[in-house]
Amino acid sequence: MKTIQLHDLTFEQCISNTEVQQAVNGVAVLINDEYKDKRPVFLTVLNGAFLFASELIKKFDCECEMSFIKVASYDGLEQSDEIFTVMGAEPSLKGRDVVVIEDIVDSGNTIETIIQILEQEEVASFKIATLFYKPEAYTKPYTIDYIGLEIANDFVVGFGLDYKGLGRNLTAIYKLKQPHMKNLVLFGPPGAGKGTQADVLKEKYDLVHISTGDVFRYNIKNATELGTLAKSYMDKGQLVPDTVTIDMLNAEVEKNPNANGFIFDGFPRTEAQAEALATLLASKSTEVAAMVALEVDDEVLVQRLLERGKTSGRADDADEAVIRNRIKVYYAETAILKGYYEKQNKYFGVNGVGSVEEITARLSTVIDAL
Ligand code: IMP
Ligand code: MG
Repeated sequence: MKTIQLHDLTFEQCISNTEVQQAVNGVAVLINDEYKDKRPVFLTVLNGAFLFASELIKKFDCECEMSFIKVASYDGLEQSDEIFTVMGAEPSLKGRDVVVIEDIVDSGNTIETIIQILEQEEVASFKIATLFYKPEAYTKPYTIDYIGLEIANDFVVGFGLDYKGLGRNLTAIYKLKQPHMKNLVLFGPPGAGKGTQADVLKEKYDLVHISTGDVFRYNIKNATELGTLAKSYMDKGQLVPDTVTIDMLNAEVEKNPNANGFIFDGFPRTEAQAEALATLLASKSTEVAAMVALEVDDEVLVQRLLERGKTSGRADDADEAVIRNRIKVYYAETAILKGYYEKQNKYFGVNGVGSVEEITARLSTVIDAL
């Protein structure tokens, strides 16, 4: 998708020039039909509507006059309720049939101001034509008579519309790109230092670490609805269905609406779970940016875990056969997801041998490039 940079912000194309031209044509047909014998005054709202007006008026086949008005309301992305007239319509519109030409109707504040002006001017009639209309943002009761295209409540630029003065000359329409989240799926065999790195990364990148094991324990301990449901399967010795796990993860994601991203740890384990995670993130307009896997040679892991077992008292760290089996299980799971994310160019293996700082530096190289 084509993106552009205006000042500090990135925009991505959302409506092609062809679609814009079709929208203009649609309005032109209706206005030609309605105003052919009325010698209307086209009242263009400056600055944004100048391009739409010029395209539209060129397609009007009968007599008409033109006037311009300038009001101001927007300051960058922020909208203010206060609208002031910078330049009034000349000559008088009294007794005329006026077609207001707007680039975009958002809250409707501007249109309201213009309607008040038209009423003061005692026009014979007026109608409103706008290239774009944001129904979700519109709060006013006035009918918008001619609408080129209805659009979502995004900030857009192009075809006359600007962000801090730039973007008016773009022939297609671009919408503000939401800052992209860095969602990581973190993998590492037992003993690779995954927990340590997750802690460092979450601080460094301001991410939220979602350890699936912790999420389960939390829900079960607090007997949440999902925790109780999960436990009912576990008590019967059955696997907890993916939908239950996904719902728990969804709740965690929703607890952090302003997160810069998430580190998923312990999930997904299967391709079906990876698909479910993709669906969950897509519903939040985001995605998995990368699967990052710490790579450590088996023999190094075995030695590390046996070493740890001497002091940790963890039974599963003491027995070499158990350790080797855990590593084997890990690789069986990883291989599935590795293939899945590799197909999307999202798999990154990182050398997991070295000091904590060295490994963090390697992980950061991957994350910074996302
Ligand atoms: P309203 O008064 O909220 O309806 O906003 C109307 C005016 O705000 C338009 O004429 C534009 O100048 C500006 N505006 C509204 N939405 C956008 C947008 O998405 N991009 C650029 N300007 C906008
Ligand atoms: Mg405008």
